[in-house]
Amino acid sequence: MSTLKFAVLAGDYIGPEVMTEALRVLEHVARQENLTLSYTKADVGGAGIDNHGKALPDSTLKLCEQSDAILFGSVGGPKWENLPPKEQPERAALLPLRKHFTLFANIRPGLLYRELTDASPLKTDRIPEGIDIVCIRELTGGLYFGQPKQTTTLPDGDVQAVDTMVYRKSEIERITATAITAARARKKRLCSIDKANVLETSVLWRKTVTEFVAKHAADIELSHMYVDNAAMQLARNPNQFDVFVTENMFGDILSDEMAVICGSLGMLSSASLGAGQNSLGLPFGLYEPAGGTAPDIAGKGVANPCAQILSVALMLRFSFGLEKTAVRIEAAVKKAVTGGTRTSDIAFGGKAVGTKAMADAVIRELG
Ligand code: IPM
Ligand code: MG
Repeated sequence: MSTLKFAVLAGDYIGPEVMTEALRVLEHVARQENLTLSYTKADVGGAGIDNHGKALPDSTLKLCEQSDAILFGSVGGPKWENLPPKEQPERAALLPLRKHFTLFANIRPGLLYRELTDASPLKTDRIPEGIDIVCIRELTGGLYFGQPKQTTTLPDGDVQAVDTMVYRKSEIERITATAITAARARKKRLCSIDKANVLETSVLWRKTVTEFVAKHAADIELSHMYVDNAAMQLARNPNQFDVFVTENMFGDILSDEMAVICGSLGMLSSASLGAGQNSLGLPFGLYEPAGGTAPDIAGKGVANPCAQILSVALMLRFSFGLEKTAVRIEAAVKKAVTGGTRTSDIAFGGKAVGTKAMADAVIRELG
């Protein structure tokens, strides 16, 4: 009987609502499969600011350090919008967590079921079978963290700000290794996205990815694409990609584009895996839905819990090695949704259920 020890950081607005339902699904699975859950909840984001004076309270960080994984909700919203940028929940909670645990590999599945293609802004004849691609985003390097990063007043009185885009070969190699693993589990096709016609970091990126794949993954079909073209190709024909890998900032932008073509943010999960191992010898990771806090629908019980439930599945897969259980949960979500139980974001004006009823349907499918 395995014990699953993880931290639950639900965050703000719909964060706790969808988290409650995702945990209910997990409790159900745990009973079925004889898994022991040992999780502890802690404040993060706006809740951290309100209750402890900062977005990532020390006690929360400590809890995460003592856990094997972090199940994250979402943070931020209008209530904290007027704080200085550096203190805002998103930036002051997520970025330090990523850095502290070296969560360098961000895995974002772009999945749209065939039955839901109407939810995509793309013409459905471009995606007759839905969408099934994976974005692997480098998460602890590049412009987000490079130094110097500052604003200064120049001798002539003008003001100048600088962010630094910096990558080490070793950082590129480790994200490439993650991408190879992901590609191997799928169609063995990997597209690396960069801006090697302009950026020095991208020249190193392309060279490193090429050499690393040649040396360690001769079975993988590797291609390269410039990021501007990739943005266009994603909108034209997303399924030409299978797994793509890219640096931090490009991945931030492309993953939002991918999310919108996949119809609803309410369906997309993500995993951020660390360089470190947890007490089980598996990757420590942070698992979160892609959707954000959705303040406009918070408190109404209508948010789609599927992305949070699918994030639980990713946590079971990567940080607890429970592949079969993860697949069961993913299949149950798919069956529930394609069977017609849908929250309003994916109901296309048809009958919509609330957060709890959606989770109930998933639980029913789990048997
Ligand atoms: C994301 C978000 C974050 C990022 C923000 C909230 C700091 O947009 O996870 O994609 O830019 O990485
Ligand atoms: Mg983003």
